[in-house]
Amino acid sequence: MDQKATYQIFVIILLLSHITQAERRNLGLLEGLVKFVQEGTRHFQEEPQDAATVLPEYDFIIVGAGSAGSVVANRLSRNPDWNVLLIEAGRPENYVMDIPIMATFFQFSDANWKYKMEPSSTVCLGMENRQCTCPRGKVVGGSSVVNFMIYTRGNKRDYNNWEKLGNSGWGYKDVLPYFLEIEEMTIPELTKDTRFHSTRGEVTISYAPFHTPLADAFVEGGRELGHRIVDYNGETQTGFSLLQTTKRNGTRWSASRAFLHPMRDRNNFHLKKRSQVTKILIDPSTKTAYGVEFVQNKKKYVVRAKKEVILSAGAVNSPQLLMLSGVGPKQHLTALNIPVIEDLSVGYNLMDHPGSLGLTFTVNQSVGLILNEMLNDGSSLVEYLNYHKGPFSVPAGCEGIAFIDTKNPSDVDGDPDLEILFFGASLLSEKSLYKTLGIREDIYKTVYEPVEDTHSWSGVPLTLKPKSRGRIMLKSANPFHKPLIYYDLFEDPQDLEMQLLGIKKIIDLSNTKAFQKYGSKVHNYPIPDCKHLEFGSDEYWRCVIRHLAVGIWHLSGTCKMGPISDQSSVVDERLRVYGINRLRVIDASIMPVVPAAHTNVPSMMLGAKGADMVIQDWKTGYLKN
Ligand SMILES: Cc1cc2nc3c(=O)[nH]c(=O)nc-3n(C[C@H](O)[C@H](O)[C@H](O)COP(=O)(O)OP(=O)(O)OC[C@H]3O[C@@H](n4cnc5c(N)ncnc54)[C@H](O)[C@@H]3O)c2cc1C
Ligand SMILES: *[C@@H]1O[C@H](CO)[C@@H](O)[C@H](O)[C@H]1NC(C)=O
Ligand SMILES: *[C@@H]1O[C@H](CO)[C@@H](O)[C@H](O)[C@H]1NC(C)=O
Repeated sequence: MDQKATYQIFVIILLLSHITQAERRNLGLLEGLVKFVQEGTRHFQEEPQDAATVLPEYDFIIVGAGSAGSVVANRLSRNPDWNVLLIEAGRPENYVMDIPIMATFFQFSDANWKYKMEPSSTVCLGMENRQCTCPRGKVVGGSSVVNFMIYTRGNKRDYNNWEKLGNSGWGYKDVLPYFLEIEEMTIPELTKDTRFHSTRGEVTISYAPFHTPLADAFVEGGRELGHRIVDYNGETQTGFSLLQTTKRNGTRWSASRAFLHPMRDRNNFHLKKRSQVTKILIDPSTKTAYGVEFVQNKKKYVVRAKKEVILSAGAVNSPQLLMLSGVGPKQHLTALNIPVIEDLSVGYNLMDHPGSLGLTFTVNQSVGLILNEMLNDGSSLVEYLNYHKGPFSVPAGCEGIAFIDTKNPSDVDGDPDLEILFFGASLLSEKSLYKTLGIREDIYKTVYEPVEDTHSWSGVPLTLKPKSRGRIMLKSANPFHKPLIYYDLFEDPQDLEMQLLGIKKIIDLSNTKAFQKYGSKVHNYPIPDCKHLEFGSDEYWRCVIRHLAVGIWHLSGTCKMGPISDQSSVVDERLRVYGINRLRVIDASIMPVVPAAHTNVPSMMLGAKGADMVIQDWKTGYLKN
């Protein structure tokens, strides 16, 4: 049986096993399933196929079909005179991965690289072996297929700061046109704001077609606390809102669905799947990249690039590949017997947004999302299968978002340093999620399992301007060994204090009238390792933060963009790797400072802007054949 069928059947059996026979007959479940399987088959056929042959040479070779790489491939192959090879290590996307409520399920599958941070003595203490997991999409569409579908661009000052750091052409006025170029806004009241929204791009943005009454309480509670209700992707960012998501008609709109499906018939474009690039070929005498080596099905291929190799393998794998190919910190590479071609600060400057996951509140009415309940009462599933509506259309239970400038809370045009994510469910009570996160079973059993079937909500504070930095290193010169991820999320204590501030803000929210209507109460079962501290004291929360904060999957910065005068930069403002000809990095790893945003659409923006630079450079003859 082929992979797509096994996946769908697995999920369908899983869902059906919860529904009684009588319900199955009543509800139109069969019709829904037939419809879903038909849509899934169409979805499968629309993904560009694995190229049957590989040419010896292409104009451009792009490594990684993720958020950024998919856009780059789309834009470069618009020119029929250029042929483009896109190489992806992962499997095809599957339609079940696009069911929003199941957003996190596929981290178990081969669609995830399954990285972990190195064990720490200061953070991730509530995780097995004190290691936070670092999920990364290994699938056509990359991390946009395993993410939470949250759509944010960041604050204008984030990009103006990139420019201030010496990267000309990266101010907000320069990046906004690319955000607009790729956006298809479908929220009616937002489409009117044509300065900040567009309806002509590929990335479809919508609210979930369903939200819980608790999500309304979240927005209303924010208002009670003096915050505005805001379109946080509009002119100003600070305030509360329902979540804008990368979804079309209630299903995930991944980078692949947006950018690769429409180009499946371009005959100057080849996609290779399940093909892992193991090395960028660089001539050490001319320091020019001329191709890549990749492995598919244990078979090795060598392909040449006539014009450029473009790395879009993401913030873990792009630095890994550079280092494997001799571009990176000299001392580190020498220690691994990798001949050094260019000594650069590859792998440093690792950033993420820390977020504490454990903060849970119970309510006294049936207003939250409970997965068991949704599965037992088949009507939600039927509603989703037939109409793409209802609770299944909520990405992993995430429904609301707030951006706060803690230094100037009343500034309408603030510069947010704290985000709050709202989930209409007890996040860590979800079995599959606590397992994928690697949370210790004793913590789950004593704290979160007891409220598994209780209506609840969770708030996650995000430190938006992290000062701590991590580092990616090679474990060995073997490209199939996972790289090492070192990251003390709270190396700088301010990053932890921002979490504490966020937790207090979320407790304030719970105390608003909007939430008290539902008898919202902090779930006060202490984390076993912290129960010697007074529940609710600052010390208690700091302990919880060190146990249950994770990097919220916005890994970035490891091939930093910067001026030549900045020793820590790896690429220049046109994303060209310093010292190496015909090699660029276009993905989240070039971010000099992570924006106050979830990084999916910002990475797509980088893809569109980066591709434009490639096109300009070859048109003006800046680079000659
Ligand atoms: C669990 C999770 C939840 C998230 N939630 C959100 C969210 O809700 N909203 C949001 O905006 N952001 C979210 N993010 C972050 C966001 O998805 C990423 O920042 C973004 O997708 C990164 O884009 P990228 O192009 O840099 O890398 P990716 O999208 O990860 O793409 C890299 C691609 O390169 C491939 N690749 C890597 N190495 C090789 C190799 N050697 N050979 C061939 N191919 C290779 C990978 O398989 C992958 O497909 C989340 C991320 C995760 C993991
Ligand atoms: C959305 O999906 C449902 C379920 O397949 C379908 O019936 C409906 O026509 C779709 N709506 C749009 C606007 O495509
Ligand atoms: C829930 O709690 C609130 C606040 O205590 C109370 O006003 C309300 O009546 C309660 N509702 C139910 C259904 O118990």
